Amino acid sequence: MDRLNIVKGNIVKAKTDVIVNAANTSLLGGGGVDGAIHRAAGPMLLEECKKLNGCPTGEARITPGFKLNAKYVIHTPGPIWRGGGKGECELLANCYKNSLNLAYEKCLLSISFPSISTGIYRFPADIASKIALKEIYDFLSKHTDFEKVNIVCFDYDVYKIYKKTIKEFNKN
Ligand code: APR
Repeated sequence: MDRLNIVKGNIVKAKTDVIVNAANTSLLGGGGVDGAIHRAAGPMLLEECKKLNGCPTGEARITPGFKLNAKYVIHTPGPIWRGGGKGECELLANCYKNSLNLAYEKCLLSISFPSISTGIYRFPADIASKIALKEIYDFLSKHTDFEKVNIVCFDYDVYKIYKKTIKEFNKN
């Protein structure tokens, strides 16, 4: 599936129609990729996010990208890892599902994801990568006109985990 790529890099540089922000439920910015996206987009992004009045975990909201290369940002709060018994896997799957469906609804056919929840929210990257790739493959098989999904890994260890997982998916 050449429409899905795992890349090492900084998502703020991505040139896809939309990039996904691993936000928190306030949508008022934070550290990690959330902080990087807000810094690169400029203060207008926070002003726009304030109008959204937050977003529940697993859901997705869209804003313009302002000073980013990407025209839009989809903000999705991932779940905090609490050991795996509190519905974290389903909530993470919903982040990918809802972000992809929202992009498609807006006729945006190329998207870049960070590795949602695997930083400050401590979700194990090996489990998260399987959830992410399953949802993305399912979506791409149903939407043959969708052009590209990049998973942009900032952290080399996370990049290696996604590359390993995609190899396992391609074998099956
Ligand atoms: N580009 C791509 N990926 C990045 C970048 C970047 N510029 N910066 C960090 N990452 C990666 C991290 O290495 C990690 O693999 O994004 C992944 C998600 O990490 P976090 O940004 O910490 O996000 P998350 O674990 O989902 O925690 C969300 O952190 O930043 C706050 O406001 C945010 O409260 C929310 C929480």
